Order: sequence, then C-alpha cells, then structure tokens
Amino acid sequence: MNQLTISRAKQLLEADEVVVIPTETVYGLAANIYSEIAIRKVFDLKNRPYTNPLIVHIKSIEKLTDIAQNIPTVAYHIAEKFWPGPLTQVLEKRDTVSDLITANGRSVAVRIPNHPVALELLNSIGFPLAAPSANPFNYLSPTSAEDVAKCFPTLASVILDGGRCQNGIESTVIGHKKDGIHLFRYGSITKEEIEETIGQKLIVDNKKSDKIESPGMLSKHYSPKSKLILTKDILNTVSQISLERIGVLSFQQVYLHPKIKMIKVLSTTGDLHEAAHNFFESLHRLDELGLDCIIAELLPNKGLGIAINDRLYRGASKF
Ligand code: TXA
Ligand code: MG
Repeated sequence: MNQLTISRAKQLLEADEVVVIPTETVYGLAANIYSEIAIRKVFDLKNRPYTNPLIVHIKSIEKLTDIAQNIPTVAYHIAEKFWPGPLTQVLEKRDTVSDLITANGRSVAVRIPNHPVALELLNSIGFPLAAPSANPFNYLSPTSAEDVAKCFPTLASVILDGGRCQNGIESTVIGHKKDGIHLFRYGSITKEEIEETIGQKLIVDNKKSDKIESPGMLSKHYSPKSKLILTKDILNTVSQISLERIGVLSFQQVYLHPKIKMIKVLSTTGDLHEAAHNFFESLHRLDELGLDCIIAELLPNKGLGIAINDRLYRGASKF
C-alpha cells in the first residue's frame, strides 16, 4: 500500500483532485467543497447519481456557520454531545455551498469526523471536505484502505491509510424540520442515544424508496455482488436452498454444513459494537470468493442491530 502523506493529500485537494480519507465509520472519497471540478470527480468515480447529496465534513463546530444558516439551538446541543463523531445533521444550507453537494436542495448534511488522520487533514487545509463513502454506488462500504483499493485500483495512490475503521458502519443522519427532528438513516449512533440527549422522540423518516428524491433511503443499497439472502435460521435456509457454494454471515455462532464454504462471525459475545465494526469487512471477505450466495443472519432488532439489519435489508437480493 502507498504512503500518501497529509501534505501530499493537501496538495492534491488544492489542485481539484480527490483523495480517500479514513473516518471512524467508513472510508470517504473526499473533495474540496469549493471545487466543483473535484466534486464532479467524486460523483463520476462512484457512478453516483447527481440527485444523491453528499455529506460535508468540517473540523470544528465554529465552522458550522460557514456551511449552514438558521441553525436551531438543538443542533448545537447535539453537536456538543456527538461531535467529533458519527452523527450527521441536515441543516439549511448557505448560498456558498454548491448545489452539486446538496443535489439542488436547500439543505446540507454536515458532520465532524472522529478520526485523527481525517482531523489532521481538515486542520491542515482551509476548506471542508465533501465525502461520500468510498465505494462504487450501491456496493458495500469500505472499512479499510485495502478494500478501497480493491474497488478503485486507480485510487490506490491517493488513499490516506488510517487503519480499520473503528465503528464500521456509516454515520446516523438526522434532519431538523418544523415538526421535529427526523431520522433519515440509521447508523453508528443509536436512535435512543440521540433521544436521550434531546429529550424528545425522533421521527423515523427512512422509508425505503426507489425515488432518488428521498436521498439516502434507496431500497437497493449496500449490495454485494453475490446474491444476498437473509434469514433468522441459517441451517434451515442452507439446507433448503438449491445453491451449493454458500457463504454465511453469522451474528454469534459458527454453523457447520458441507455447503458452507466460508463463515464469518460478527461477534462471538453478541456485542453489537463489535458486530458493526466487523460488518462490511466480513461481507467484503465473503463477496470476494464469488460464491453462489451469501446467507446472512438477521441481528436482534435493537440498538445498533437496527442499523445493521437496515443495511442487510437494503443489500438483500430478495426480502
Ligand atoms: O459515515 C458517513 O456518513 C460516511 C463517512 C465518509 O463520513 N459518509 C457517507 O456518505 O456515508 P454517503 O454519501 O455514502 O451517505 C450520505 C447519506 C446519504 O444517504 C445521503 O442521501 C444523505 O447522507 N444526505 C446527504 N445530504 C443530505 C441532505 N441534504 N438531506 C438528506 N440526506 C442527505
Ligand atoms: Mg454510501
């Protein structure tokens, strides 16, 4: 793996190029928010529709007013509690934020990433970074520099390697609306953690939709190349299915069956944080074997289990 330095990454970003940055959630494909050339490169490399807006990454809460306006007090309260960290807030955008980033909408998504390398980079440059996950549109998100390079060989020399991502699933996305705070995407911070902080219930607003006008809520997302089948009973599904070469993504247990060619266990102790940390990494390992299918066990539907299940449902071939 290459050794991209912070100073070289800075040079590239200042020259309208993209770089791949580590965050605590997943790796991001980053561009200077003030460079439309670079932002277009991000969309084009990912093959991402221009109708799906990007998250802006800032270095400190003070910088929020460069990006957003009419910021509600509760947004600051949430920022103080969770930033730097895996929580994204959708706020009214300032005119200086490009319509490319917001997909022509009037709101902008923003967060401070909690990764030393990302923060060092943000502190060394004079602008925020727009960064979606560094995967081709609809594919599994990458949680290591190696998995980014596998998806994007041409980007191998522009990856800042920050090791395995701690959280392993993307940030939670919330938005401030007149009727309350909406939860747009389940992620690394649980709904309950946010509700405890603000003392009110979130309005769950992540309906699966194939209309891109509901950004981030596409029903098909996070899909491996192999057919992904979900179950609550691994051995029963393995024995019933007519396919022969099967990969299994299990929550806690090892299952043995002649048709199971590889099994990945997310957390032998049933720890949902560990499961999230291992989730995309395990799917990448299973997917690269080119098996007939991957059978994944649904997790308990609580806390981070909800966020992991949400990704499984969106990635699944049939459900
Ligand atoms: O953890 C993360 O959030 C990672 C790291 C790199 O920060 N980024 C990430 O970006 O997951 P991306 O582009 O893969 O997902 C961004 C999500 C999408 O679901 C997008 O639709 C939603 O945020 N989003 C962005 N701007 C929005 C807006 N203005 N309103 C509503 N949703 C928005
Ligand atoms: Mg993504």
